[in-house]
Amino acid sequence: MTLDQTRLRIAIQKSGRLSKECQRMLKGCGVKLNLREQRLIAHAENMPIDLLLVRDDDIPGLVMDGVVDLGVVGENVLEETLMERQAQGEAADYSVLKRLDFGGCRLSLAVSQDADYSGVNSLEGKRIATSYPWLLKRYMDSQGVKFKSVMLNGSVEVAPRAGVADAICDLVSTGATLEANGLVETDVIFRSKAVLIQSATPLAASKQAVIDRLLPRIQGLQQARE
Ligand code: PRP
Ligand code: ZN
Ligand code: MG
Repeated sequence: MTLDQTRLRIAIQKSGRLSKECQRMLKGCGVKLNLREQRLIAHAENMPIDLLLVRDDDIPGLVMDGVVDLGVVGENVLEETLMERQAQGEAADYSVLKRLDFGGCRLSLAVSQDADYSGVNSLEGKRIATSYPWLLKRYMDSQGVKFKSVMLNGSVEVAPRAGVADAICDLVSTGATLEANGLVETDVIFRSKAVLIQSATPLAASKQAVIDRLLPRIQGLQQARE
């Protein structure tokens, strides 16, 4: 299982909200995938495409570092990575090929159902658990509210009950996770959808030709769903 330099490399989420939708989209584009459990690389059988199945958080970096040619990722993860890399002086070039019609969600602040909350000022000096420290800081700075960031990569919604934080800033889609954890959404700070992004590294003509075949098909799929 090695990566062939002549094949178009696309990074998609291995498991999670976007993975099924990505696979559906690629199938809809006529890409025959040979996906097996636990495989991190999948070769398309009928087109020169290799898929890398990775954690969504890794996708923007893989594209920005030119490790893959394309990636499908939520704008939330993309924007967070962009802010982090810019702050660290790392390369952060990419282009958005297409905004997709799935993966809709919002990054929101949420507090315990019995918390005293009367606007974002209530969070002054409080601890907020999140996996999105840069997006959170940008919002809180814009509101002039100081806070302490508690970085958690998962299970963010348990933080208030565990006494680790006073509030959380996490993704909300249906709202079921918040409800199950006795939390209420208070402020939407970022709205997101999935996007198809491309590396800034110049592509070989053969790879560009594959992209030129895929894009109109994605467009067609989206129009058919409208
Ligand atoms: C998000 C978030 C919540 C859940 C909310 O995780 O962290 O756990 O989705 O969805 P709901 O409002 O429909 O209940 P995600 O699936 O994006 O996983 P990840 O954090 O591992 O990327
Ligand atoms: Zn292989
Ligand atoms: Mg994630």
